[in-house]
Amino acid sequence: MFRIESKIDTQSESFISQKEQYIKLLKEYKEILKKVRNGSSEKAIEKHKARGKLLARDRINLLVDPNTSFIELSTLAAYGHYDNQFPSAGIITGIGVVHGKETLIIANDATVKGGTYVKETIKKHLRAQEVAMENHLPCVYMVDSGGVFLPEQANVFPDRFDFGRFFYNQARLSAEGIPQISIVMGSCTAGGAYVPAMSDETIIVRNQGTIFIGGPPLVKAATGEEISAEELGGADVHTSISGVADHMADNDRHAIQICRNIFETLELKEKQTLDIIEPEEPFYNPEELYGIAPIDLKKPVDSREIIARIVDGSKFQEFKSRYAPTLVTGFARIMGMPIGILANNGVFFSESSLKGAHFIELCVHRKIPILFLQNITGFIVGREYERKGIARDGAKLVHAVANATVPKFTVVFGGSFGAGNYAMAGRAYDPRLLFMWPNAKISVMGGEQAANVLITVKSDQLEARGQKLDPEMADKMKKEILDKYEVEGSAYYSTARLWDDGIIDPLDTRKVLAMGIAASLNKKFPDPKFGVFRM
Ligand code: COA
Repeated sequence: MFRIESKIDTQSESFISQKEQYIKLLKEYKEILKKVRNGSSEKAIEKHKARGKLLARDRINLLVDPNTSFIELSTLAAYGHYDNQFPSAGIITGIGVVHGKETLIIANDATVKGGTYVKETIKKHLRAQEVAMENHLPCVYMVDSGGVFLPEQANVFPDRFDFGRFFYNQARLSAEGIPQISIVMGSCTAGGAYVPAMSDETIIVRNQGTIFIGGPPLVKAATGEEISAEELGGADVHTSISGVADHMADNDRHAIQICRNIFETLELKEKQTLDIIEPEEPFYNPEELYGIAPIDLKKPVDSREIIARIVDGSKFQEFKSRYAPTLVTGFARIMGMPIGILANNGVFFSESSLKGAHFIELCVHRKIPILFLQNITGFIVGREYERKGIARDGAKLVHAVANATVPKFTVVFGGSFGAGNYAMAGRAYDPRLLFMWPNAKISVMGGEQAANVLITVKSDQLEARGQKLDPEMADKMKKEILDKYEVEGSAYYSTARLWDDGIIDPLDTRKVLAMGIAASLNKKFPDPKFGVFRM
């Protein structure tokens, strides 16, 4: 493979000033992240620790193999909601390595409203199970939760993808041969009791973990029986009388060690093979991404400059480099693993759509995972392009993306607008993981375009009634729409709602993708299968 020749002048004024701006943006992101990671109130944290319990992230650190990365998902879920009373939506999820096996870990944070579930907590828990299902990753549930956050019951209880879906998923995951292991480190009340009860193997911490369908207050109200939590559903009861749990641990550390021991007994499964070679750092310094990633989305960025700072040795085997230049396609390696890349370099035309669909076919037939690097305003519009059948050619690309049988990964490094989001494996197209950079923006179209569309519609309506749109009114409308799109288009707005798997520092892109690709090898890639491409 040839090395990309960068054309960026890292000494130029524009590069330096953009880098400074980006570092400011990153500082803001890291401050938010730190605040959220510090979790709930000091009081709740102290109370938790005084009980001899470890914090959720410390529990995870002990579970994963030393000196391995834990890729945390959606850290900023629920950010800006509920008066920020639910940092990380009260649950930590992510992929870590346990006894050499990529594992999906779900840990309740009991310092956040007793580890209870609001809408975003549920979405995060279900998304994590989806990642486990797609990649065949064993699941460890570190349970410490009061179940549903009762004031929010109408938003979390009976619908298809609400609270009960966890247990359904556990049954389905187990049936697929995907191990389900619970460590009960605190409360598992009501529906929450089914997490350990439906696991393949369950550990419970003595004088700390409890499992019951109804807690002591409910039992008293229902039957008049007065009973302590420990007597009703503590570790002793469940490991010696009911059999709901299988192992009793003395404390968090002991429980985690038992869990690690269980991993030694898991079936060794055949993995997808991939031609993996010795990893190589990018030739160009990834820190230069700060001077390149578009903060001003109107400024074009050659996506090869982004690729050069993500892939091994900055080497790229470009495909159809002379054709349809608004989409860059080609093969590279990340930490030694092969990857096919589609990266936007302008709007989609018919030719770029066809090039993308062709390239996806190559990746699928060669069983090489695909990375989509999104910076897309959408598909070209206008009479000439409609007549040439842009909708039909765009559909070919969308069809190829939807049916690609190899793992897909998406990173939004700039804008993600309209149908461009779909064609580049947006959330609705099931990428295995989707991350945003802090500068990224996502909405159905850019604010400017949306404002112009709505003003035109309004003006046409008025004209039909023989009236005219007052320019002041038009300006007011425009400002309101621009302000709204500015807020709703931000990466923070997206990540709070779990439209992505998290915001990442551009420097972490290689690491996160490498973990994603490695995890994806746990499930063999199916053979190609496409439907009808409209010709
Ligand atoms: N819904 C709403 N809020 C809840 C809650 C629930 N199910 N369970 C706990 N909370 C809140 C508490 O009100 C408290 O809020 P605050 O910090 O604003 O005061 C916070 O979570 C911590 O609860 P607290 O009882 O002080 O903590 P704890 O660590 O001593 O006990 C539990 C945690 C979960 C064991 C305990 O609160 C409990 O048993 N909750 C009820 C569980 C239940 O019956 N759930 C049924 C759901 S279907």
